[in-house]
Amino acid sequence: MDFVYFFSLLSFAVSFLAADATLQLICPLQTLYQLGASKSDTGNLIRVLPVGPTILAARFPYGETFPGRPTGRWSNGRLMIDYTAMALGLPLLNPYLDNKASFNNGVNFAVAGSTALNSSFFAMRGVIVPSFITPLSGQLSWFKTYLASICSTPTECDGKLRRALIFVGEIGGNDINYPLAQGKSLQEIQTYLPFINQAIINTTREIIQAGALQIVVPGNFPIGCFPFGLSALASNDSTSYDEFGCIRSLNNLVLNQNNNLKLAISSLRREFPDVVIIYSDYYNAFLSVLRGAPILGFDRENLLKACCGRAPFNPLSPQFCGNPGVPVCLNPRRYVHWDGIHLTQEANRRISEILMRDILLRIRCIR
Ligand SMILES: *[C@@H]1O[C@H](CO)[C@@H](O)[C@H](O)[C@H]1NC(C)=O
Ligand SMILES: *[C@@H]1O[C@H](CO)[C@@H](O)[C@H](O)[C@H]1NC(C)=O
Ligand SMILES: *[C@@H]1O[C@H](CO)[C@@H](O)[C@H](O)[C@H]1NC(C)=O
Repeated sequence: MDFVYFFSLLSFAVSFLAADATLQLICPLQTLYQLGASKSDTGNLIRVLPVGPTILAARFPYGETFPGRPTGRWSNGRLMIDYTAMALGLPLLNPYLDNKASFNNGVNFAVAGSTALNSSFFAMRGVIVPSFITPLSGQLSWFKTYLASICSTPTECDGKLRRALIFVGEIGGNDINYPLAQGKSLQEIQTYLPFINQAIINTTREIIQAGALQIVVPGNFPIGCFPFGLSALASNDSTSYDEFGCIRSLNNLVLNQNNNLKLAISSLRREFPDVVIIYSDYYNAFLSVLRGAPILGFDRENLLKACCGRAPFNPLSPQFCGNPGVPVCLNPRRYVHWDGIHLTQEANRRISEILMRDILLRIRCIR
């Protein structure tokens, strides 16, 4: 079903119910907040000095499809959070670090390259993470600082968050990507998973304690289907690959991470029975797009290939998208993968469409 159509149906149902004086339903949502990493960053890292202006997403062909120039989005165009805002009938979410922007409809705190865990966790394990990122704990501080600037009493802050939807993630993918790119084994990375999920759950709990009533916690993507994962774990053994051609071991690791996150969310729901906590299944939404690819207009032969750049699809490689002389496909509309780590606008649009259908059904309009 078309988004706009779906949404008008929803508003119709709501206004119909609101006609009953005893049912003062408040819908739709007024504000949207996002914490996350590069797949949701609409312009924070590009504003972090001194690195911001030098990042690859500050160069063409990033942003070539939308808005026609680089904005710091790691795609040729719109991100999933842009489509989420559109589905809710809200303006696109502005990045927190844009001090000229309006935050009347919410704030985007996501910073490209960020991890769920603090850098001290990685330092202890000999994994290098860039110093310019803002891990989940830092984004949570920003959220609290921002909230303190728009309300001063717990009651007032609860009021500000009553009609908000908050995305905590997708985050945690980089907590796997950095060690993987630095040669850590999947067995070792496996031991990080409980901590990654704890960081996500602890942050979600604090956001609820700040007054949030509706939260989306996305799982991780099947990164074994992403060119970065495919090149990091390339193998000559055909049993390493699943029916899509994805790396089985890496996807199994993510499945395990997602299943544990779902369990942790269930117990968080028991802790806060009045709060709507939605697990958003990015893993299966992505696979649905792969399955439906020919009908959706993607090139079947390029499903696991990046539109821009060459292997190893590590942002430190001179072959990564945004560097001079790197190949770019002519029609990104027909590709799922943009630069090997991030998706094209068209993939973001399709995946968001699948996920928002589910989220809109679960959002509770508040009395
Ligand atoms: C991460 O760092 C922040 C800020 O330095 C700190 O408040 C928080 O307790 C740390 N979290 C963990 C799990 O170490
Ligand atoms: C999550 O919170 C628990 C309980 O406060 C704490 O023991 C744990 O260290 C936290 N974990 C992370 C990764 O923040
Ligand atoms: C696969 O086999 C080719 C030819 O034997 C070899 O050059 C290549 O390094 C192998 N690749 C991997 C990932 O093992």
